[in-house]
Amino acid sequence: MTERITQLNKEVSAFCGTKAPDIEDFRIQMLGKKGKITLLFDDFKQLSGDEKKAVGQLLNQLKNLAQQRIAELKQKADDNDAPAHSIDTSRPAAGNDEHGSRHPIAVMRSEILAIFGKLGFTIAEGPEIEDDWHVFGALNFAPEHPARDMQDTFFIDTQNADNPTLLRTHTSSVQVRTMENQAPPIRVVCPGRVYRNEAISARAHCMFHQVEGLYVDKDVSFADLKQTLLYFAKEMFGNKVEIRLRPSFFPFTEPSAEMDVSCSLCGGKGCNVCKGTGWLEVGGCGMVHPKVLQANKIDPAKYSGFAFGMGIERLVMLKYQVRDLRLYFENDVRFLRQFR
Ligand code: PHE
Repeated sequence: MTERITQLNKEVSAFCGTKAPDIEDFRIQMLGKKGKITLLFDDFKQLSGDEKKAVGQLLNQLKNLAQQRIAELKQKADDNDAPAHSIDTSRPAAGNDEHGSRHPIAVMRSEILAIFGKLGFTIAEGPEIEDDWHVFGALNFAPEHPARDMQDTFFIDTQNADNPTLLRTHTSSVQVRTMENQAPPIRVVCPGRVYRNEAISARAHCMFHQVEGLYVDKDVSFADLKQTLLYFAKEMFGNKVEIRLRPSFFPFTEPSAEMDVSCSLCGGKGCNVCKGTGWLEVGGCGMVHPKVLQANKIDPAKYSGFAFGMGIERLVMLKYQVRDLRLYFENDVRFLRQFR
């Protein structure tokens, strides 16, 4: 038996197959169920105790040698088969564990839309490059209204003096487009970027984001508006929050109001964020002006509606205490990373 082991040792050491199938054949020949080495193990079982001691170690060494030799040759064969430039796309990237994060405006936008979504509001979007009619005319802005002034609005093309092309100053234009295309009941929220000709500072920017809402149906009342806004405020700032509506003016709503929420930081006692008032302003709202319904061919005798609008940056400011509007557009990763 020792002789046979020596002979097989030689055979194994001499084998130098380079192709994977040859190496596999050799493995079966040696270590397969009926392989030469495997059969030696069967013979080994027949030996007496003393003989076993003498041969056992040699036999194990032979088996290990064969396994090692086959593994080495297989590895070489695999390396030879692989194309030189092969890239394993399933391998995790080494050393790069930097993840991106969502922009705070995107986070807040989806939070707002999700809350109104629960009340059955669907999302409507429209173009950022608009015309005067959709941004002002259909919304009951008088022809000489100051918002139309070059000071506030970015005009793109004023050749058509009656209906110039401009960048929308609010997403109320999407409400107009919705009323053009859809009969009541209408229940939409309109998120989007808007532009105003303002000098850029910590508190003002020439572009920002709004979510506006519109609800038109039979018997829609101011109480519905109030309840909707209260629901929104509670979902956004917590159950303890209160809202306050202050009389205001917008050409497209009557009556109109500014909406405040109780300061979530000081609980209404007064702090430097709410400037000691206990209230934070979040947006405008009101009952859709009958002239706006008429301009969009909706009969104000049959239908009524409410509308509201709020700035997304403003809500992020209130929720995360971001004091400088410019941070939203600079894309400094040190700022953005905080909103994972
Ligand atoms: N469109 C107004 C703005 O941009 C907000 C608003 C929307 C006010 C709807 C009342 C009703 O300031």
